[in-house]
Amino acid sequence: MTDMITIALSKGRLADQAIDLLEASGYDCSAAREKSRRLILEDEKAGLRFIMAKPADVPTYVEYGAADIGVVGKDTLLEEGRQLYEVIDLGFGACRMCVCGPASLKGKLDQIPNKRVASKYPNITRSYFEGTKHESVEIIKLNGSVELAPLIGLAEVIVDIVESGRTLRENGLDVLEVIADISARVIVNRVSMKMKAQSIMPMLDALRCQLAKQKEQEDTDTVNMQGEERAAT
Ligand code: PRP
Repeated sequence: MTDMITIALSKGRLADQAIDLLEASGYDCSAAREKSRRLILEDEKAGLRFIMAKPADVPTYVEYGAADIGVVGKDTLLEEGRQLYEVIDLGFGACRMCVCGPASLKGKLDQIPNKRVASKYPNITRSYFEGTKHESVEIIKLNGSVELAPLIGLAEVIVDIVESGRTLRENGLDVLEVIADISARVIVNRVSMKMKAQSIMPMLDALRCQLAKQKEQEDTDTVNMQGEERAAT
């Protein structure tokens, strides 16, 4: 008998991409596609149960074993610092964790003493400034629209994710330093990895295999496109 696997998904875009990938890897996810407000979506036949969680809570469900597997951004993993296995970099949801502020501060960040840094990510901010740069700063925790802080004089700089860079541009701010590359990761509960290995290992293998296939296809498409461009000139 195969184990029932509980997968915690980050509600929103990451969940949709994770479901697409699981289906492409051969897992029936029709239960998870159900458009409803139910938070637990189960397909007994497929042996899968999906829980739709707030992104910041996904590592908590996985650490405590309430979910066997989770799909979550590396930003959340760095911030939450939970005890679990991070097993696959899915590549999607790519962005960067950065220190941002007015362009006038480029290259001058270290010259500002007793900086105030606003962020939704106080732990990442502390670990970067105190751990990596050996600098003590005042961290101001915000819950969103963090770009407001330097504009309104609440903080000199912010630590936030930058995806397209549009929010920064439209608010006259710039990337000052890059802290980390971020993307969606598969995480696994440490006990489930052993106790449900029979079901979990094949799922991880199928995901890795599908990612490799997609990468190969992308590479082929790029080569073909370059060929077509060359032929056109
Ligand atoms: C995130 C992040 C930035 C923005 C970056 O905010 O905090 O503000 O996206 O994306 P961009 O580089 O493509 O503009 P989110 O949309 O999650 O809203 P929030 O500010 O309320 O957290």
